[in-house]
Amino acid sequence: MLLHYIAVLCLIGNFLCGAAPQRDNTGPGPTRNKLLLISFDGFRWDYDQDVDTPNLDKMARDGVKAEYVTPPFLTITSPAHFTLLSGRYIENHGVIHNMWFNTTTQEKKQYYMTQFVDSYWDNGSLPIWITAQRQGLKAGSLHFPGTAATYKGETVGVRQVEPRFYDYSNETDWKLNINKVIGEWFHQQDLDFVSLYFGEPDLTGHKYGPDSPERRKMVQQVDRTVGYIRDKIQDYGLTDKLNIIITADHGMSTVLQDGLVEEIILSKIPGFSFKDIKFHLVDYGPAGMLLPKEGMLEKVYKALKGSHPHLHVYKKEEMPARLHYSNHPRLLPIILFADPGYVINGFFPVQFHKGEHGFDNQVMDMKPFFRVVGPDFQKNLVFRSFETVHVYPLMCHLLGINPEINDGHLDNTKDMLVPKKNNNEINAQLQAIVGLSAVTGFLVLVFIVTTSYVWCKRSRAERR
Ligand SMILES: *[C@@H]1O[C@H](CO)[C@@H](O)[C@H](O)[C@H]1NC(C)=O
Ligand SMILES: *[C@@H]1O[C@H](CO)[C@@H](O)[C@H](O)[C@H]1NC(C)=O
Ligand SMILES: *[C@@H]1O[C@H](CO)[C@@H](O)[C@H](O)[C@H]1NC(C)=O
Ligand SMILES: [Zn+2]
Repeated sequence: MLLHYIAVLCLIGNFLCGAAPQRDNTGPGPTRNKLLLISFDGFRWDYDQDVDTPNLDKMARDGVKAEYVTPPFLTITSPAHFTLLSGRYIENHGVIHNMWFNTTTQEKKQYYMTQFVDSYWDNGSLPIWITAQRQGLKAGSLHFPGTAATYKGETVGVRQVEPRFYDYSNETDWKLNINKVIGEWFHQQDLDFVSLYFGEPDLTGHKYGPDSPERRKMVQQVDRTVGYIRDKIQDYGLTDKLNIIITADHGMSTVLQDGLVEEIILSKIPGFSFKDIKFHLVDYGPAGMLLPKEGMLEKVYKALKGSHPHLHVYKKEEMPARLHYSNHPRLLPIILFADPGYVINGFFPVQFHKGEHGFDNQVMDMKPFFRVVGPDFQKNLVFRSFETVHVYPLMCHLLGINPEINDGHLDNTKDMLVPKKNNNEINAQLQAIVGLSAVTGFLVLVFIVTTSYVWCKRSRAERR
């Protein structure tokens, strides 16, 4: 009899607790807002400091501005963007370079063609679009690196991939793309998440250098575009329903040229020969990788190590752990990177960019900017710097989806969110009440049962 009552009580208790869903402490709750992730390729953290940027300034007043953020190493486009999308360091997501390559056939694909090699992108980490879609949300992507690929049989639901020879700098085209994302994708098609990519100011930074008037002019184009985006969002009545994250993949640093420095040219290094190399990936900015022929690793390594005061040479497994660029089968046995100002040439100098990236992510010139605005963010807050692996858990949190395994943590960004009297506190209160009632109910029942039992016994005894 008593056991029966307890069982019923427990069932009622469980039912009540189960009915109130468990939610993450600062989750968006029933009012999930939309999210727009924007990348302006190569926008260095301090690019707004020598240019008039009224729209970026206004956005900082209306939202949160990080001092800077730290990208993953290698600080180049596809790897760093896939870290934003997956929250994983590059050695963990496997998109280790802008270029796909095959060390057996010597085949290389440049940035654009690599976008279409599914197996290169789909190497064990899911971009946030797929995770969001699996959990019932609608996602889109325009020109963002990784958009063209298929992941575990699935692509981002709504997408636009740029044509082969696309002009990434055309402001008129930028506006058309923005109209599509805000007017069609968010407004008409009610998407929950969109990633949007612009190829500038990276191209201008490479061509003219980060300190050039051309770069400053391009930053003004970016600033106008930020204003245009926010106006469009306002026009469609989305301001209170849409969070915006604006960031970049890496920064830019001036290359020292014209006999100002001793250039790094591998073929000229004593004891080094390309005859000992089976496959090489150099002439690509300040970083490179080598696959020595069978038995040649030590020879190549010894020849290169210490050969130039601004060249860092590592065996893959000796790479500094803080760079997280060591533990992946695609990385070749010898990894090279140069100090700021220098690039790595193979046979002779073939690189004439005035600006470069790909340097150590500790270098301040490699740090991108990071700005957010929207209903879930604080206003007029300058935030401490953090690594861009932490953007992914922030985005999952804003979208109310469960993240995949990743290298980031919400703790690093959650203080930029508006504190909420959230579901969890309410749940805790509700559960306390339910718990108390259950205990009280149980005690009353025990009293009744005991009393009845005593009464029964007594009456039976009286009958006897
Ligand atoms: C490289 O090419 C070889 C020979 O065609 C092939 O066996 C191998 O699977 C290829 N590797 C990659 C990563 O595509
Ligand atoms: C990632 O790619 C590497 C080599 O290209 C391959 O050996 C490995 O199995 C892939 N991992 C996954 C999970 O796709
Ligand atoms: C910029 O893009 C627009 C729209 O796609 C096009 O009409 C225009 O000719 C382009 N301008 C330049 C300079 O290429
Ligand atoms: Zn880039």
